[in-house]
Amino acid sequence: TGLVTLDPGFVNTAACESDITYIDGDAGILRYRGYPIEELAGKSNFIEVSYLLIYGELPSQQQYDAFAERIRKHTLLHEDLKQFFDGFPRDAHPMPVLSSAVSALSTFYQDSLNPFDKEQVELSTVRLLAKLPTIAAYAYKKSVGQPFLYPDNSLGLVENFHRMTFGFPAEPYEVDPVMTKALDLLFILHADHEQNCSTSTVRMVGSSEANLFASISAGINALFGPLHGGANSAVLEMLEGIRANGGDVDTFVERVKNKEPGVKLMGFGHRVYKNYDPRAAIIKKTADEVLGKLGANDPLLDIALRLEEKALSDDYFVERKLYPNVDFYTGLIYKAMGFPTKFFTVLFALGRLPGWIAHWREMLEDPARKISRPRQVYTGYPERSYLEIGKR
Ligand code: CMC
Repeated sequence: TGLVTLDPGFVNTAACESDITYIDGDAGILRYRGYPIEELAGKSNFIEVSYLLIYGELPSQQQYDAFAERIRKHTLLHEDLKQFFDGFPRDAHPMPVLSSAVSALSTFYQDSLNPFDKEQVELSTVRLLAKLPTIAAYAYKKSVGQPFLYPDNSLGLVENFHRMTFGFPAEPYEVDPVMTKALDLLFILHADHEQNCSTSTVRMVGSSEANLFASISAGINALFGPLHGGANSAVLEMLEGIRANGGDVDTFVERVKNKEPGVKLMGFGHRVYKNYDPRAAIIKKTADEVLGKLGANDPLLDIALRLEEKALSDDYFVERKLYPNVDFYTGLIYKAMGFPTKFFTVLFALGRLPGWIAHWREMLEDPARKISRPRQVYTGYPERSYLEIGKR
C-alpha cells in the first residue's frame, strides 16, 4: 500500500495489455488490428471491421457471409421489449433510452448471464450487433411519434437502420447510397479507440464478471457525457450559438481562451492525440462531399471552417496541441442526413459497439485478468470520536 501512486484520469497508467487498437497520438496514427484507419475507411465496410475487431483477423468471404447472415437473423426485438419504449417521456434523451433497453436485454436473454459460456457469448455478440440499430431506430420513432418498422432482412445492417429510422410502414424504401455509405464510413471511424472512457467502463464493469449486455449498457452511459461521445451534439449546439450571435468566431475563441465557465471549443482536444485526429481528417473530406451530394448548404459548415482555421493559428491552441477531434465535423453530416442533434451520440454508440464487444471479450480471455479495483489516496479526517447529536 505504500507504493500507491496518484494518477487522476489515468493519464499515465495502463490498465491492461491489448492487441486491438494502436494509437500514436503525436504522429496522428490509428490502426485496428494493425490496419491503418485510412485503408479501412477507403476499402472495408462496418460489418467487416466489426469482425476484424472482435475476432482479430479480416474474414474470408465465407466467414464474412456467415457473420453477416447471423446478424441479419437477429435484428428483431422481442415484442414485449417494444412496450418498453412507451415507458419513457416522448421527449426523453435517446441515450438513456438506449442504455436502458440494452440493460433490459439481459432480462430477455437470461441464458446470456454466464460470461464464460463461449456459445452464449457468441450469441450475445450477434444479438447486440443486430439489435442495437433496431433499438436506436425505435428510440427515434418514439421521439417523433411515428410507428415502428420491423427490420427488413433483405437489407444490410446500415440500410436497415436507415430505413427503420426514416421509413414508413406503407411506403416502399429506396436505399440512398450516398447516405448509407457515409453512415457506414462514420461507423468504421468510430468502431474502436482503445482505452477511452466508455471502453474502460465496459472493461471495468465486465471485470466483475457482469454479462455483456450489462457491461455495454454501462459503456453507453459513459459515452453520453459531453466530454466524450456527447461532444458531437455539443459541437452543433456551439456552432448554432455562434450563428445566433452573428457568426462571430473571434469573440467565441476569446471566451474560450478566457476560460469562461462552461465555454470550451467543443470538438477540439484529445487526451491522446497531440496532432490532427486522423479520423477528423477523413471526416472533414467526407463532410464536404456528403453535404454537397445531399444538397445541404449549411451555413454552420462555414462557421466550423472559420473556427478551425482561427484556432489552429492561435497560440492558446498551438501551445496546448489542441486539434479538431472526431466529433468536430460529424454533427454537420448527421444534421444533413436528417438526424436531430440529440440523436448524434446514439450514432456514435452504434459505431463504437464492436470495439466495446472486442474489449470485453479480450478482457475476459486475458490470463492476467483481475477485477478492476483502483486504489486511492485518502485525504479525509484522521480518527475522531462520535458526538451525540445534541452536542454537535
Ligand atoms: N477548449 C479549450 N481548452 C481546452 C480544450 C478545448 N476543447 N481541450 C483542452 N483544453 C485546454 C485545457 O483547459 C487545459 O488548459 P490548461 O493547461 O491551461 O489548464 C489544456 O488544454 C489541457 O487539457 P486537459 O483538459 O488537461 O486535457 P484532457 O486530456 O484531460 O481532456 C478532452 C481531453 C477531450 C476531455 C478535452 O480536450 C475536452 O474537453 N475537449 C472538448 C470535448 C470534446 O471534444 N470531446 C471529444 C473527445 S474525442 C471523441 C471522444 O473520445 O468521445
